[in-house]
Amino acid sequence: MKVLVLGGTGSIGASVVSALRSRRNEVLGLARSDSSADSLCSLGAQPVRGDIRWPDEWANVAKSVDAVIQVAGDFTADADPIGRNLISSLLHRIDARRSGPPPAYIYTGGCWLYGTTGDCVATEDLPLNAPAEWAWSIDHLRMVLEAPQVRGIVIHPAMVYERDGGVLARFRDDLSTFGRVRVFGNENIRWPMVHRADIGELYALALERAPRGASYNGAAVDSITVGALARAMARRAGVETTPLVRSIDEGVAELGEWVRGYAIDQRMSGAKARRELQWLPVHTDPVADLS
Ligand SMILES: NC(=O)c1ccc[n+]([C@@H]2O[C@H](COP(=O)([O-])OP(=O)(O)OC[C@H]3O[C@@H](n4cnc5c(N)ncnc54)[C@H](OP(=O)(O)O)[C@@H]3O)[C@@H](O)[C@H]2O)c1
Repeated sequence: MKVLVLGGTGSIGASVVSALRSRRNEVLGLARSDSSADSLCSLGAQPVRGDIRWPDEWANVAKSVDAVIQVAGDFTADADPIGRNLISSLLHRIDARRSGPPPAYIYTGGCWLYGTTGDCVATEDLPLNAPAEWAWSIDHLRMVLEAPQVRGIVIHPAMVYERDGGVLARFRDDLSTFGRVRVFGNENIRWPMVHRADIGELYALALERAPRGASYNGAAVDSITVGALARAMARRAGVETTPLVRSIDEGVAELGEWVRGYAIDQRMSGAKARRELQWLPVHTDPVADLS
């Protein structure tokens, strides 16, 4: 297939590009800078110069692809209008294209859109309950799922990690700055987790096998406490393992609204993707991965 990836240099997107290329798909990747274009080339993708804020400059490329995978998002105050305009522009181009099977459009949601779940394990049937900061994303994913001209699919990645990167990059930075890992809220807050190599595979499988209108949670591990992750990182570094607990407000003031997401206590199941797409995540023990 010929696939256009938006966000193909990111934590999730680079893994998606690799998984698509390993299955011999032709991949076009949106690049807003020379360095992004170079990264895409090194992954085997062909760069298409452009920015998600100005889709009219490049979105005609969507007329000639079999799929669009959106893993780029704008998280400024204009996230809602920018995302709506992006999706509308792409759907408009796809609508005007040749006949044949509808192209796939995979939109990236995220575990935070379920809000706090506590002990309940979020499946795809649980109504979304996003914090106000990210509620616009629910409207955007509905635009994709309800568009008649595409096979709309949504993937909700869990917290994406790799040994020193993804959501753990901040832990690593804390270790070098404070000699301890900081957690916001408390260390019993639970996160669903997925390794970035496994999430890329899930997108590739969804592209091949998911039906129109389907949503999948990308969780390899239903939940793990942030304390367990913080302690594993600190143990490996040979420093004090007890995390520094900081208030959410303190975190928001220093690091921004993202910290409200880090403080969401969640469990999320990836069983549907395992069952329907035969997704087999390799990394199912984040603490062991960090050791
Ligand atoms: N990471 C997680 O744990 C996680 C979990 C759940 C959901 N998600 C969602 O998944 C999506 C991707 O997350 P990520 O962690 O992979 O993000 P990331 O590492 O920050 O990557 C973002 C990607 O989007 C591209 N991008 C950003 N603004 C752009 C613009 N204006 N024009 C063109 N490209 C632009 C970036 O390109 P450049 O190379 O040019 O910067 C990069 O390729 C987000 O919507 C996020 O909310 C992430």
